[in-house]
Amino acid sequence: MKYGHFDDLNREYVITQPDTPLPWINYLGCQAYFGIISNTAGGYSFYRDARLRRLTRYRYNNVPMDFGGRYVYLRDDESREFWSPSWQPTRTELKDYSCRHGMGYTVIGSTRGGIEAHTRYFVPLDENLEIWQLTVTNRRATRARISAFASIEFCLWDAQDDATNFQRNFNIGEVEVEDGVIYHKTEYRERRNHFAYYACSEPGAGFDTQREAFLGRYRGWDKPAAVEAGQLTNSIAHGWSPIGAHQVKLDLAPGETRQIVFVLGYHENPVAQKFDPPNSQTINKTLVKPVIAKYLDPKQADAAFERLRQYWAGLLDIFQVNTPDIHTNRMVNIWNAYQCMATFNMSRSASFFESGIGRGLGFRDSNQDLLGFVHMAPARARERILDLSATQLETGGAYHQYQPLTKRGNNDIGGGFNDDPHWLIVGVSAYLKETGDWSILDEPVQYDNEPGSEKPLYDHLQRSFRYTLTRLGPHGLPLIGRADWNDCLNLNCFSDTPGQSFQTTTNKDGKVAESVFIAGLFVIAGRELAAIAKHRGLHNEAATYLEEVAKMEQVVRKQGWDGEWFLRAYDDFGAKIGSRECEEGKIFIESNGFCVLAGIGLDDGKANKALAATGKFLATKHGIVLQQPAYSKYYLNLGEISSYPPGYKENAGIFCHNNPWVMIAEARLGHGDLAHDYYSRINPSAREEISDLHRCEPYVYAQMIAGKDAPTHGEAKNSWLTGTAAWNYYAIVQWILGVRTTLDGLEIAPVIPKSWPGFTATRTFRGVVYRISIERKGDGNRIALTVDGSPLKGNIVPPPADGRKTVSIKGILT
Ligand code: GLC
Ligand code: GLC
Repeated sequence: MKYGHFDDLNREYVITQPDTPLPWINYLGCQAYFGIISNTAGGYSFYRDARLRRLTRYRYNNVPMDFGGRYVYLRDDESREFWSPSWQPTRTELKDYSCRHGMGYTVIGSTRGGIEAHTRYFVPLDENLEIWQLTVTNRRATRARISAFASIEFCLWDAQDDATNFQRNFNIGEVEVEDGVIYHKTEYRERRNHFAYYACSEPGAGFDTQREAFLGRYRGWDKPAAVEAGQLTNSIAHGWSPIGAHQVKLDLAPGETRQIVFVLGYHENPVAQKFDPPNSQTINKTLVKPVIAKYLDPKQADAAFERLRQYWAGLLDIFQVNTPDIHTNRMVNIWNAYQCMATFNMSRSASFFESGIGRGLGFRDSNQDLLGFVHMAPARARERILDLSATQLETGGAYHQYQPLTKRGNNDIGGGFNDDPHWLIVGVSAYLKETGDWSILDEPVQYDNEPGSEKPLYDHLQRSFRYTLTRLGPHGLPLIGRADWNDCLNLNCFSDTPGQSFQTTTNKDGKVAESVFIAGLFVIAGRELAAIAKHRGLHNEAATYLEEVAKMEQVVRKQGWDGEWFLRAYDDFGAKIGSRECEEGKIFIESNGFCVLAGIGLDDGKANKALAATGKFLATKHGIVLQQPAYSKYYLNLGEISSYPPGYKENAGIFCHNNPWVMIAEARLGHGDLAHDYYSRINPSAREEISDLHRCEPYVYAQMIAGKDAPTHGEAKNSWLTGTAAWNYYAIVQWILGVRTTLDGLEIAPVIPKSWPGFTATRTFRGVVYRISIERKGDGNRIALTVDGSPLKGNIVPPPADGRKTVSIKGILT
């Protein structure tokens, strides 16, 4: 069954039943101030770094689930009944509940006892704050006397410490309340120069800042004592748990509507101006007050919301498509693009499944995220590339992760994931194809953030490629290191001690285990780098790269081929992984998808065979599983992959991130029907009807759908923050629809289903708007293009010579 519906016109998903199988979330903010918000107002906010600068508390993996949030309560001051218009936390029965998740905003509301209430939550562009606009309407025939309450619980900044270090933390909480604004200033007395604030547009009837005063002893957010009593207590927190709660009294005539604005924000003062007066302990509020006053004004709040709408419309308009398939349209035009922004911003840090304290930004993850994001904000992509490459090591290797607040490589996890450096080439290449901004290659970039070690970005790419040349194994394939794309294929780990990290424990010398996947990645990266070198006039260098690529292809054909499909790897004993000789794990998706995507075996039938085997052994109606048969027990020589019960995650789950590799591979073979069929199997919108099985949001991809070996086959987990977003976007847009960026211009090469009569699209590319219309006149993928009426040779549309800003492209498929 469904729990809501898409509103494509407004670019919203509308949830109409609050008890969704899991919290269905959205993201607020897209620059520095962020929050997650569920369909029942659960979630939290942070500034830049979900671990180090967390503003509000959230209780992960709690019961009932999804507690901690941006909670509004209404109380009928006559009947004394109270409820939450967002259902949680009181879970009172409501009429007309709805949650509209839109582009950077969420509106939650309902009606109860004739009182209609909606709250619109969003983060204005260029500000470090969030706005809640609560609208209350009296639909009764009589007057209504209502108290409205709004509340949040402050986090003491470092989310990890906040959840563990109670002996200190119960003593340090401090707040100030001035002119009705609640300021959270824990640790401001010492080394912090930042504070949070929580303000309300209306004269308050009371406030609370001490959690126990608000909730009462042994009570939860579902039944705050002060709300029940109808009067906040003006408590001032000293230690324990600082919160923010406001109360406003409303006396509404029949039909009357009132709006109350709440602003929750973050502010940093210059260190020398922390206090006012300077020798006091009182926060200097002169800089923040105008900001607060501005956004408490409903007109300013509305204007900020309108700007946000325009901003998103502008981003999404860069590529819009109209195909016969509604699920393709809404994912490409709205949700998949939107999710790519979230993965770019968050990497893998903060979602319902990622606690925000676990990981920094992944080197390989963030580079791949660029594939789906670079067209929307090239300047930010450029900055990200330079940040990432500055954490690269002089060996060409890379820190596996870095912290967004410090932008430095993470020492705890270190490097040695031998696929990492090649993703930088892939990311930079995507950037160059989109923008044509060749200057980025000359940017001086440090190694390991060491001042003085600056070399042009191009030097980083050269070292990335060479990294593998000096790390080849006994079969001439790349050594795998700690892991390749598959974090859980840990062939040098051999860990028998519970709790050890599979990624960083290494008990072998690393000179034997090899990866066929990295070989495929090397081929792609090598070709991209050769094209870049050629563009720079470095023809000899380009030729060397292509020689190395050709050599590697030969090695893969000889040492990486199992007869019917590509092998996955060789382990530390030199034994095959992903071979019919294996008892379990005979065939894997990664090497088959990626080698064909890289073009290996297109000319000698191997590609066709590999994909046929992939379809036969790995494809299910819910997507393509990672390997078969699943590992039924723990293998010391394989590592984490065999730690998962069969059908989950990397052990034969449908790891949605690599399904698009097979889509692209099928498209390269000209199989449009199958490519789009695979696309549809994991398309969340196409799975909306089975929400009870799928369980995650129907508007964004999840990292994993349980594979056929799991009793929960078809159930998704870990939605939002996954490389699935970028790769699916890239697969459908660039390879199935075939609107592809190249170094020389926009290429048009669709490989679409036979049943489609065609499609139309608009693409803004390097400042020119291309209006594309494709018509199918035959069964195949041959395309004849005309550009502004003139036939084009080949299918790469060069930039218009005469500076035209609009170009019309017509394509006939036969
Ligand atoms: C996770 C990681 C990613 C890895 C994948 C497969 O999504 O973030 O880096 O490639 O798992 O293990
Ligand atoms: C986990 C996940 C994988 C992740 C890795 C590193 O096992 O399955 O997706 O990349 O650990 O955190």
